[in-house]
Amino acid sequence: MNKKFKTGLLLAVLALVFAVTGCGSQEKAAPKVLKVGTDAAFAPFEFQDESTKEYVGFDIDLAKALGKQMGYEVQIQNMNFDGIIPGIESGNIDIAATGMTITAERSQKVNFSKPYYKSGLAVVVKADNATIKGFGDLEGKKIAVQIGTTGASEAKKIKNAQVREFNSSAEAFMELKAGGADAVVNDLPVNEYYIVKTGAKDAKIVGDVVSAEEYGIAIGKKNTELTEKINKALDELKKNGEYEKLYLKWFGKKPPQA
Ligand code: ARG
Repeated sequence: MNKKFKTGLLLAVLALVFAVTGCGSQEKAAPKVLKVGTDAAFAPFEFQDESTKEYVGFDIDLAKALGKQMGYEVQIQNMNFDGIIPGIESGNIDIAATGMTITAERSQKVNFSKPYYKSGLAVVVKADNATIKGFGDLEGKKIAVQIGTTGASEAKKIKNAQVREFNSSAEAFMELKAGGADAVVNDLPVNEYYIVKTGAKDAKIVGDVVSAEEYGIAIGKKNTELTEKINKALDELKKNGEYEKLYLKWFGKKPPQA
């Protein structure tokens, strides 16, 4: 073999190796994808924009902001609320941003980020209801709730109550409006949004907030690295004002001081 030929062969082999392994190419690696599960019937946290059909809301914006901060491309997956923890356990989704209350029971199955929203449960009745004035008046009543929620477990503690569980809180409100239920037990900010949205003619909130709750981003139990990254990104969004901007956008007020 002459020398020229040898060098030529070597170059050809090297070129092939680079082509196969992708070394030396100028292309940037595709961004990592973060699959975010949510039950998009929980306005103003997550819902579908009627005209654009896009998923919007505080949690959606927050998930996108967290993704951006961590260098992930965010993919939103709409699913039933009671399928969300199983979805994380099976690896179908990486995290959930879905107004999920941090509870001890759920913490056995998933990791939670630091709390990102202070919430609580409240009772909703028809606007003309004069007998139910709060949680204490729900004994023996028909109560509509969303399946798998803290509202559902709270309602089930009430003596002789007939608790009916729906796939979404939006459906629970429809049941109240249709007269099939005396009350809905559901998250206060979602109740408030529903009432304002419907012009306060169908329903009202009665009594005090039943239980103080905090929402967290849910992450796979083994995924401690992602949990740390999310907590860090959350801190950064709080520091750089992005969190406050989103809070103001969806709730019309500044977040409470921690
Ligand atoms: N905060 C309540 C819970 O964790 C209700 C959450 C419902 N969220 C939803 N996107 N439907 O049980």
